[in-house]
Amino acid sequence: MSPLHSSQAVTPDGPAIEDVTVLIFGASGDLTARKLIPALFRLWSKGFLSDRTAIIGVARREKSDESFRNEMREAMGVGESDDDQVKWNGFSQLLYYREADLADAEQFRQLKSAVEAIEGERDLTGRRIVYMATAPDLFLPGVNALADADMIPNREQQDRLRVVFEKPFGHDLTSAQELTESLSRLLHECQIYRIDHYLGKETVQNILLFRFGNAIFEPLFNRTHVNHVQITVAESQGMERGRGAYYDRSGALRDVLQNHVLQLLCLIAMEPPALFEGEYIRDEKLKILQALRPGSSDGQLSDWAVQGQYASGTFDGKPAVAYVDEERVPTDSRRETYVAMQVEIDNWRWAGVPFYLRTGKRLKERVTEIAIQFNRPPLNLFTTVECEGDLCEMVESQPNTLIFRIQPHESIALHLSTKRPGMQYQIHPVQMDFEYDEAFAIELPEAYERLLLDVMRGDSTLFTRSDELEAAWQFVTPVLESWEQSNEAPVSYPAGSWGPVEADKLLSRTGRHWRQPTPLAESP
Ligand code: BG6
Repeated sequence: MSPLHSSQAVTPDGPAIEDVTVLIFGASGDLTARKLIPALFRLWSKGFLSDRTAIIGVARREKSDESFRNEMREAMGVGESDDDQVKWNGFSQLLYYREADLADAEQFRQLKSAVEAIEGERDLTGRRIVYMATAPDLFLPGVNALADADMIPNREQQDRLRVVFEKPFGHDLTSAQELTESLSRLLHECQIYRIDHYLGKETVQNILLFRFGNAIFEPLFNRTHVNHVQITVAESQGMERGRGAYYDRSGALRDVLQNHVLQLLCLIAMEPPALFEGEYIRDEKLKILQALRPGSSDGQLSDWAVQGQYASGTFDGKPAVAYVDEERVPTDSRRETYVAMQVEIDNWRWAGVPFYLRTGKRLKERVTEIAIQFNRPPLNLFTTVECEGDLCEMVESQPNTLIFRIQPHESIALHLSTKRPGMQYQIHPVQMDFEYDEAFAIELPEAYERLLLDVMRGDSTLFTRSDELEAAWQFVTPVLESWEQSNEAPVSYPAGSWGPVEADKLLSRTGRHWRQPTPLAESP
């Protein structure tokens, strides 16, 4: 790891970045205003970025520095208090805007001179981060334009440029390989940062610390003790902010499962790395992706993967439209807005343990969690009878479940059985919780905040390596192709539900069922 700065100021979380120019390509887009500028603002406010830093938005539209600053200020909803104003005024001095079209070599040469002039004024030495917040088909033209304008340093100086690519990186295995191949002619792999913002979430990073920083759980994480694992990335939102056009080319499998869900799977299933360093961690994650198999032996896709699309329904007590009636979505779209899968990891530790994955839009709740359900005790020694009125039933102990709640209400909970106080041995389910809010009286850093800082520090641990990415595409591409080539439409589910009933069958055929995640205080 080599830092992209000379360290002078030191924050409690490591050295501050003294010498960096951040160029954001695609600065007119939603991502810049909603995620990147707020993250840079917080980094600067916390002392991670010095006042010399230059942040230069680049896009085709004509705009002055002042109007760019005003747009960002509005998008961030900067408060009226004196403190907020002073902070914003300080930060906004770091912001610039320059117009350039990636396809126009002359404009790019002008951009280079403009960037150098800004760097000259701010006493910066031209150590640059380029953030590709553009449409994916502009990734390669963007890097080509950098090369043509002589903005890619030679090999000895490669540390002076890092390029961050937003997802999607390719839309299937072949396109991802082609992109990697083309980029590798211009950039070294160590200059390429493929972002998966899930890896920047504090609670996602905690999975590794929980697993390998505690001795008592890890011996249970295997086929002997784990009955099955459920990974849920459920979203309540639909196609807000005109996202329909992008989403309809992508769908749930490409948009979330191929990246965020498979990354969560890797972290929960991987072996301990030899050292806690980027390459070692990514080597272990790669092995999980390489061992990934369909969770059905008879080869029928419908037996282990379900695609759904939301129909109209009710969300938050209000009527919600169907996917095909959303803005910028074709009315005859067959794009999946939900996907559920049963997969297995064919390795020594996990062989035979089903991993159930699901993600979807317009589901009942916004919740991301990993639930590890352990085996039941071998004998049911305690018989509990629960009665409601005249109706009585026998209750068995619930299996222990360990839940990593990634969002919201970030927490880790362990579900246990205890004795209900009284004159008999009666089983009662309880849970032990660790909640971030209670344990740490600090606001959790935003994913982009952490990831941007890591790029500046030259730490690629939380970024996806090309072989990892390809292994993920390798698993997902046949499913995509089969769905796109077949005439089978996704099954529908009402907006505001937990998804299609067909997805329930993946579990119910073995007597299991999906968890219906509730706020932790209300579970189990
Ligand atoms: C993005 C997807 O990568 O992740 C979006 O493109 C999705 O469709 C988002 O909504 C979910 O991220 P988060 O952090 O809100 O869970």
